[in-house]
Amino acid sequence: MRIQHLVLMFAVVWLFGASLVSAEPGYAPGDPQSCLGCHGEHGMKPAAGILSTVHGQKANPKSPMATKGCQSCHGPSAQHLTDYSSGKPAKPAITFNAKTPVAQQNAVCLDCHQSRERTHWLGSPHEFAGVSCAGCHSVHTPRDKVMHKNTQVDVCVDCHKEKRAQMHKRSAHPLAEGEMTCTDCHNPHGTRGESLLVADFVNENCFQCHAEKRGPFLWEHAPVRESCTNCHQPHGSVHESMLVARGPWLCQQCHMASFHPSTAYSGSGIPPAGAAQQMLDKNCMNCHTQVHGSNHPSGARLTR
Ligand code: HEC
Ligand code: HEC
Ligand code: HEC
Ligand code: HEC
Ligand code: HEC
Ligand code: HEC
Ligand code: HEC
Ligand code: HEC
Ligand code: HEC
Ligand code: HEC
Repeated sequence: MRIQHLVLMFAVVWLFGASLVSAEPGYAPGDPQSCLGCHGEHGMKPAAGILSTVHGQKANPKSPMATKGCQSCHGPSAQHLTDYSSGKPAKPAITFNAKTPVAQQNAVCLDCHQSRERTHWLGSPHEFAGVSCAGCHSVHTPRDKVMHKNTQVDVCVDCHKEKRAQMHKRSAHPLAEGEMTCTDCHNPHGTRGESLLVADFVNENCFQCHAEKRGPFLWEHAPVRESCTNCHQPHGSVHESMLVARGPWLCQQCHMASFHPSTAYSGSGIPPAGAAQQMLDKNCMNCHTQVHGSNHPSGARLTR
């Protein structure tokens, strides 16, 4: 009886000990189980969620789990398991927080993801500003918010607070409604053109959905050809049609000395004091209906 107990105790100690011994340099470096003993579902800083993401699929020979396991991203971490000299475990080679320089963190991801949409990452505004891949992506959760249409915007406006305000203004693209995303217009990883726009020029970007504004027009309106943003704020505005200013002032920023009396129209021209055409309803657009360009033979003044 007593001997059997003793054998059992030895067995328990041996088994329990084994999981601690796995922390010695001899542990299997590519085996996530070496790490999940402590970082499992109910452990400290749980990390097992990654096993249900694309990165956790051993079946994909390119995935981290099929190559060096957790260490594909966190680097050689033997000392993390063995060195407690500071009272806490020494940090793994790569952590995705302030303890590892951002360029070093990103290099890990780029090692597998340099191509395709990341071709212009180096030198892009996000790279330049020290934003990390992990600043947008969460790789340990089964659902990476930035990858889903209805949660992506939340991730972006967490940093771009002024865009959160703009997209809730009276007139805006349906971003708040989840019908559009920031990536309909931007590639956050970097682009050839300005402002991380998916097309090289602003107008090309807009034409993807507003093709009727492309023309060609017999009578063009110069500022429209130049850039839609001369008159529109693409993220939202308090003025209707996302205009940067209210008509007639919008137009008068460029057209003071026109065919018309060249006064800046003010509140004095509204009823009952009198009713200037330029102030009522759609103001200048009462007559100049074709502000984006006209194909009418006599539409030179964009009135038809
Ligand atoms: C023996 C238990 C144990 C094992 C095994 C273990 N860790 Fe840890 N790990 C810890 C503890 C404890 C902390 C918290 C340290 C702290 O708070 O400073 C931690 C923290 C971390 C952190 C966060 C570090 C930071 O500074 O933010 C990462 C990343 C990490 N571990 C990765 C790993 C990886 C990868 C493995 C497998 C190679 C692993 N751990 C194996 C105990 C362990
Ligand atoms: C694809 C790269 C990648 C792989 C593979 C990976 N990690 Fe991570 N790990 C990260 C990133 C990035 C973070 C930062 C948090 C985030 O993005 O979810 C992180 C954070 C952590 C943390 C800190 C969590 C906290 O709460 O502070 C721990 C612990 C950790 N990982 C352990 C592991 C373990 C254990 C494995 C293997 C089962 C593993 N990681 C595999 C990229 C990876
Ligand atoms: C060892 C190679 C490897 C490393 C390192 C790696 N990944 Fe991946 N990643 C993959 C593979 C494989 C896929 C699956 C898609 C594929 O086969 O191209 C993937 C897919 C993704 C996806 C698409 C997810 C989806 O749901 O479609 C994102 C986002 C991603 N990785 C981000 C990261 C980030 C951020 C890092 C750094 C923290 C990172 N990856 C590190 C190999 C890697
Ligand atoms: C500013 C936020 C942001 C940053 C920073 C960022 N990403 Fe992304 N990433 C996204 C969004 C949004 C998508 C989804 C794109 C879409 O839906 O068109 C995405 C998609 C991906 C994909 C899957 C699509 C594909 O091209 O295969 C991978 C892989 C990826 N990112 C890797 C990275 C890597 C690596 C880094 C760091 C060098 C990084 N990302 C930095 C926001 C970001
Ligand atoms: C309909 C297309 C479109 C959508 C959707 C869009 N943007 Fe933009 N964004 C633009 C254009 C065009 C510019 C360039 C503006 C300029 O040149 O005046 C720009 C510029 C920016 C800029 C830099 C200049 C500035 O205005 O601060 C930031 C930051 C930005 N966008 C973030 C976002 C975020 C975050 C989202 C999602 C909430 C988003 N954008 C959605 C078209 C868009
Ligand atoms: C971790 C914070 C962070 C997140 C998340 C983030 N950004 Fe940024 N973004 C920045 C910083 C910092 C800059 C550079 C400084 C600036 O222009 O505000 C920047 C710049 C930009 C610019 C301006 C580029 C230029 O040429 O001026 C655009 C556009 C942009 N981000 C879009 C996005 C989109 C779209 C997302 C979501 C997919 C996103 N950002 C998520 C921090 C972030
Ligand atoms: C991915 C498609 C898409 C792109 C790209 C796009 N738009 Fe839009 N735009 C929409 C949708 C959808 C609406 C809403 C239409 C509706 O409500 O009926 C809209 C509405 C508008 C409106 C009318 C808003 C109102 O309150 O009546 C203006 C002005 C506009 N867009 C300008 C632009 C400009 C300028 C650009 C380029 C910077 C652009 N759009 C790029 C899809 C797009
Ligand atoms: C000179 C100023 C100006 C420029 C530049 C301009 N727009 Fe407009 N846009 C307006 C005005 C004013 C309205 C409101 C028209 C109305 O109320 O009759 C408008 C309305 C719109 C609307 C909503 C109503 C409609 O006609 O469908 C869309 C979409 C639109 N613009 C897209 C664009 C695009 C795309 C560009 C760039 C190719 C552009 N705009 C450039 C002044 C401008
Ligand atoms: C950013 C400056 C700018 C804004 C804002 C602007 N325009 Fe123009 N507009 C021009 C330029 C430049 C021309 C071309 C003048 C030329 O060819 O002599 C023009 C031409 C015109 C013409 C044809 C006149 C001619 O001589 O051929 C009309 C009509 C016109 N604009 C009306 C408007 C209206 C209405 C608005 C307000 C919705 C407006 N414009 C806003 C710059 C602007
Ligand atoms: C009551 C109708 C009406 C209103 C309102 C109106 N216009 Fe005109 N506009 C015209 C007519 C008609 C012409 C001349 C057409 C012609 O000669 O073929 C004209 C001509 C112009 C021209 C060309 C002038 C030139 O020297 O060739 C510009 C620029 C212009 N308008 C801008 C504006 C602006 C800006 C507003 C608002 C402040 C405005 N218009 C309001 C009817 C109107």
